[in-house]
Amino acid sequence: MTNRRNWALVTGASGGIGKDIALLLAQRGYDLILVARTEDKLQALAQEIETSHQRTARVIVQDLGVHGSVAQLMNRIGSDVSDIEVLVNNAGFGLNGAFADTEAHRLSEMVQLNVTSLMELTRAVLPSMQARRCGYVMNIASVVAFQPCPHFAVYGATKAFVLSMTEALQLELSGSGVSATAVCPGSTATEFHQVAGSDRSLVAKLMDSSASVAQQAVKATFARRSSVVTGLMNKPMPLINRLVPRMWMAAGVGQLFKKAARR
Ligand SMILES: NC(=O)c1ccc[n+]([C@@H]2O[C@H](COP(=O)([O-])OP(=O)(O)OC[C@H]3O[C@@H](n4cnc5c(N)ncnc54)[C@H](OP(=O)(O)O)[C@@H]3O)[C@@H](O)[C@H]2O)c1
Repeated sequence: MTNRRNWALVTGASGGIGKDIALLLAQRGYDLILVARTEDKLQALAQEIETSHQRTARVIVQDLGVHGSVAQLMNRIGSDVSDIEVLVNNAGFGLNGAFADTEAHRLSEMVQLNVTSLMELTRAVLPSMQARRCGYVMNIASVVAFQPCPHFAVYGATKAFVLSMTEALQLELSGSGVSATAVCPGSTATEFHQVAGSDRSLVAKLMDSSASVAQQAVKATFARRSSVVTGLMNKPMPLINRLVPRMWMAAGVGQLFKKAARR
């Protein structure tokens, strides 16, 4: 008789897409390790998971936007790491605006969170998944990963990294019982656009719900797909990117992200 748990670790679980993914994983019978910076929101979600789904939820308050944070997180997870079956690298943010006008330290924080912490956490959790020959890595990229993205230049580049790394990893993991799935949502109704300062952009008016994005993300992850573009309107993006010259696409997408003039 073993009392091993099947943990799912979700970063950025305090709201938006991450919260909805955590709830779906609890419905599927996973115990949850919930990570973000806002403790009261994580505690409220943990309580919802424990009362509505009768699963255990651990709350770990951790800023993943600073150097060395994944090592700290791994220390706090401790021996539970060997029972993590699902890793969801969801925490991320964007910054809308001209590259030269954006504060340099905020750009570095974004790269640390969206790229370095995602990569380090995947590297830290993967060996135990491989040892038990069962695991799922879900990395949240974006439809902006498919082409350069003026007015979201660094954010778009971080998501291109996530998509490329995840698809490569999926092939490396073939036959191992572990898979990696990149999720590419389009504009989604969360706090993302307020944080990014893109709430007046054209794309912020064309939103999917985070519940719908989460459902498609979880389905693709358990189907062990290498990637999924969520939302009917976004599905053609990879194909369009193959047909239209890259800098034309970038110019078009840049228009969508151009900030609406402040009154
Ligand atoms: N919404 C969209 O239009 C859209 C489109 C494509 C892709 N995405 C991607 O989807 C993912 C989830 O975003 P969302 O739309 O759900 O936005 P959101 O509502 O702003 O959620 C972001 C989550 O990340 C956490 N987070 C932010 N900075 C963090 C840090 N330094 N350390 C730890 N956690 C941090 C936030 O929690 P705390 O503030 O409590 O730390 C929150 O839980 C992101 O990777 C985003 O790039 C979003």
